[in-house]
Amino acid sequence: MEFNDPSKDIDGWLHPICGAAISCLLEVQNKHKLLGNFLEIGVFEGKTLAYFIRASKNPEKVIGIDPFIVNDNENKGKIIDNTKRVQKNILRIRKETKSNSEITLIKGLSDDPNVKNHLNNLQGTFRAISIDGNHEHNIVLQDLCLSSVLSSREGILILDDYCNISAPGVTSALKNFLCDSLEGKSWEILMLFTPMCSPIQASTRIFLQHKECSINYSENIKTLINRIKFKSEELDIKQYHWRQINIYNNKAVPALIPKDI
Ligand SMILES: C[S@@+](CC[C@H](N)C(=O)[O-])C[C@H]1O[C@@H](n2cnc3c(N)ncnc32)[C@H](O)[C@@H]1O
Repeated sequence: MEFNDPSKDIDGWLHPICGAAISCLLEVQNKHKLLGNFLEIGVFEGKTLAYFIRASKNPEKVIGIDPFIVNDNENKGKIIDNTKRVQKNILRIRKETKSNSEITLIKGLSDDPNVKNHLNNLQGTFRAISIDGNHEHNIVLQDLCLSSVLSSREGILILDDYCNISAPGVTSALKNFLCDSLEGKSWEILMLFTPMCSPIQASTRIFLQHKECSINYSENIKTLINRIKFKSEELDIKQYHWRQINIYNNKAVPALIPKDI
C-alpha cells in the first residue's frame, strides 16, 4: 500500500513515519466504525491536523487550538499573525482529501478559560487528540488532563516530543500524568514511535489509550504499518523494527525504532 502523505506541502514537525502511524491508527478506528471528533493542541501550520482532516467526515468535527502567531525571520523576528496562512492550508487539505467535516481553528492558549469554554459540551466525544502546544511540564500535564476528559473511551491521545532533550517537561509531565494524577490512572501507553534516535533529534510520539478501550490498536497497527511503502527511497519501513520496552512500571509496550540502534 503506497503511503499518501496529506501533509507533504505543509511546514511543521511530523516525521512521515509518525504520520504513517497516525494514519494507520485512524484506519483501525474506521474499520471499527468508530465515530468521534478530532482535536489538536498546538497546530502550527496544520501538518498533523492534515491527517485528522483526511480521516474525518460529517458530522465529525476537527478542532485546532493555537495562538497562530509566529516570528517573521525576514523582518527582524517581528511577531506576525499566521491565521490566514493556516486557514489557507486547511481549506486546501479539505478540498484535496474531499473531507466534509466541520473544521474550527480556535485562536488562543489551551489553558485559557475562553478557549476551554468552546470544548465544554464536547467532553467524551473525541477519537483522536494530538498534544503538541507548550512543552513545559505544568502545561503539558494540564493538556493531558484536559484531553483525558475530552476523549471517548475508544479514543487515542498522541503526545509529541517524549524523550526529546530540548523538551524535558513533556517526559516528566507524562510520568506525572500516568503515575500520580487521578485522570491518568485510566490511561496506558499503547505504543511509541521513534523515527530518529540521535540524542539531539530524538522526537518520539507516544500514543495512549484508555485502559478499558475495546479496540486492539497495537496488534492491528503492526499489520497495517508493515504493508506501507513510502514514495521516497530514503524511507523504508523495513529499516525499523518492533521492540518491547518498559516505561514507568507500565506493562511492556511496543516501540517502533530504527534497526541501526
Ligand atoms: C511544535 S509546534 C506544533 C507543530 C504541529 N503539531 C505540527 O504538526 O507541525 C507548537 C505549536 O504550539 C503552539 N502553542 C504554544 N503554546 C500553546 C498553548 N498553550 N496552547 C496551544 N498552542 C500552543 C505554538 O504557537 C506552535 O504553533
